[in-house]
Amino acid sequence: MVYLSNQTTQNEQQLVDSDGWNVIETEFNPAQLHHKETVFTTGNGYLGTRGTFEEGYSNELSATFIHGIYDDVAIATTELVNCPNWLTLVVNVGGERFRLDAGEIMYYERRLDMRLGIVNREVRWRSPKGHTIDFHFERFASLADRHVLAIRCQITSQDFEGEVSVEIEFDPNPHNHGVKHWKTLDGGSADNTIWLHSQTLHSKMQLGIAAKLLVEGNFEDKGDKVELSSHPHTSISFHCLPKQTVTVEKIITVFTSRETETPMTTALNRLAEVPSYSTLLAAHIAAWEKVWQDSDIVIEGDIKAQIAVRYNLFQLIVAAPLHDDRVSIPPKTLSGFPYSGHIFWDTDIFILPFMTLTQPALARNLLTYRHHTIEGARRKAKEAGYAGAMYAWESAATGDEVTPRWVPGLNGESIRIWCGDIEVHISTDVAYAAWHYWLYTGDDEWMRDRGAEIILDTAKFWESRVEWNPERNSYDIRDVIGPDENHDRVDNNAFTNLMVQWHLQSALMLWDWLCQAYPDTSAQLKTKLNLEAERFEKWALIANKLYVNQDPNTGLMEQFEGFFQLEDVNLAEYEPRTKSMQGLLGIEATNQKQILKQPDVLMLMYLLRDRYDRKTLETNWNYYSPRTDHSYGSSLGPAIHAILACDINQTTEAYSHFMRAALVDLEDVRCNAAEGVHAASAGGVWQAVVFGFGGVRMTQFGPIACPNLPQGWTRLKFRLNWRNEWYEFDLTGNHTVEKKTEQEEQEMVFVEAVA
Ligand code: BGC
Repeated sequence: MVYLSNQTTQNEQQLVDSDGWNVIETEFNPAQLHHKETVFTTGNGYLGTRGTFEEGYSNELSATFIHGIYDDVAIATTELVNCPNWLTLVVNVGGERFRLDAGEIMYYERRLDMRLGIVNREVRWRSPKGHTIDFHFERFASLADRHVLAIRCQITSQDFEGEVSVEIEFDPNPHNHGVKHWKTLDGGSADNTIWLHSQTLHSKMQLGIAAKLLVEGNFEDKGDKVELSSHPHTSISFHCLPKQTVTVEKIITVFTSRETETPMTTALNRLAEVPSYSTLLAAHIAAWEKVWQDSDIVIEGDIKAQIAVRYNLFQLIVAAPLHDDRVSIPPKTLSGFPYSGHIFWDTDIFILPFMTLTQPALARNLLTYRHHTIEGARRKAKEAGYAGAMYAWESAATGDEVTPRWVPGLNGESIRIWCGDIEVHISTDVAYAAWHYWLYTGDDEWMRDRGAEIILDTAKFWESRVEWNPERNSYDIRDVIGPDENHDRVDNNAFTNLMVQWHLQSALMLWDWLCQAYPDTSAQLKTKLNLEAERFEKWALIANKLYVNQDPNTGLMEQFEGFFQLEDVNLAEYEPRTKSMQGLLGIEATNQKQILKQPDVLMLMYLLRDRYDRKTLETNWNYYSPRTDHSYGSSLGPAIHAILACDINQTTEAYSHFMRAALVDLEDVRCNAAEGVHAASAGGVWQAVVFGFGGVRMTQFGPIACPNLPQGWTRLKFRLNWRNEWYEFDLTGNHTVEKKTEQEEQEMVFVEAVA
């Protein structure tokens, strides 16, 4: 195996192997404990678990989040709840507890095998008393059966003879940074099985988790017999001989009241009938193989990019709810506490294209979540005095707004957060995602039953939100926050106004289609949403007259009214820095300056890519990119900048933005990976590869590619599902071969590269 050392981080040996499927750590570094917990996060679309160690450490940040398990909390209203840790497995060798911070580590390797969806760890440990033992841990959250999780630990003594014991337990009181959410209903152990039945304190959601401990070979069982306890645990002991390997397996089942009325009984019943570890593993691997068949990206000539891209896709897949359309993917996936597990535009705009074009069933679930929560959006609109549906900037189980209004500042002051009130572009982001899902999949049924209602009712909201400005003879959208959150309470944000223009135009096209294709549905919606003919005329008028300040000669767009009058700043003068510009200058001062947290006008030019020619894009790029806090602004920015840099043929610059996004978690580029995976960035990474370097554009005949491969990339290979057919892209530096899998010969198309 060939190892490549990581160039950018010191004292760290995060290594990658030459086949491009493994993330490998070869040194246990307590200073990086939390960062690596994020890196080694696993999951199966039902739950996600940070990569803490089986033996547990007092300063670890252990967390398991299950989709949809929210509980009430002060300030943030509701948060995704940290669930009981299923990883605990403690080994005692002759009375000495195995732990990495005692004794001596003679060999260490932890590996995330992304192809198989497995985390494993090999350790040769010399105990404080001088015994040498080899451990091989392996864990997975089954992708084949979302309620089953498994751990295997192989223990090989080198020189020790005596008693080894293995203990498992459930902590009934996991918390979210000190906030308690669980009350134990029941718990116990019997015959090497433990169980815990808990309920969230306020939302009254129930969870049943059970585990059994199995040992291969001769052993003496000293485990507890039937014992009811609020801290369920059991152990097994065996006599260990030098050079002998004992294999211990822990199989876990978990259910919640979201799936069954009897989660505890169901978990125990499932545990009783669960097949062997190796059968479970085989099914899990087969499920991963299927996922990768459609979602993998092959990059040749740049192993670091290859690993990093797969890593981002892996983390998205483990967080994506395949069996549930009432939940969505939070900004930290299911791997961290920030943002409380709320749902943002991160999913609709950044993650969905990957899902729509490679896992359409998952995309459908994520969008259906938006339809299930439309009543919350209607309540929000009504409370604010508007019509239709106004989606929550931060949404949870019901779709009601859950953005905290006040958060504590660094000096104990309270800071007013306006996003929940006025970061209104979210409603159009949702409509945009629904529209593109429909466009790319041709799923008319979904559009008829769910998407149309979303797009039309949010259009109705805009009709009530815009204001007529008689002096300018235009419609205004006042008092908003655009994507660049460094500037709040602004008027006529170009991104918002032009996306709303697109939204209203699309709603009109959709309505025409619906009336023709599904007259019954259109008649029902007409009554339900009160869609009279005058309304459609009004939408057309608003779309025509939304105000935007754009220089007709240069094409430069003003981000919002008054932006050009703000103080201009040379960001280079603040380098080097390790903080965001807002962190350095403060909220108020940054608000007064032309400093962007993330692309805003440029985000618009990306989302409506076909509406802007290269010259306009270049003009706006030259203005806004130097004014953007690329290093510590929003992690949502770099991938988008990478794509736009490709569009203007700046492939080298594109590559550096791209790697910043691709390595944000693996190499902790922004020094906050410890808090959890950057999900939107991960989705952006897929878009940067496919739409940026791959140069994929959608045509009425399907996707075509005009690649801009970075230096060194000799091959870029991926597939896209367009309206139920797979398109294979196998791109090299010089030309593209793009073909449909069926009728390969006749349909082969060659596209000349622009790079
Ligand atoms: C960004 C938003 C993003 C949110 C969650 C904020 O810092 O500005 O665009 O939706 O984080 O990732």
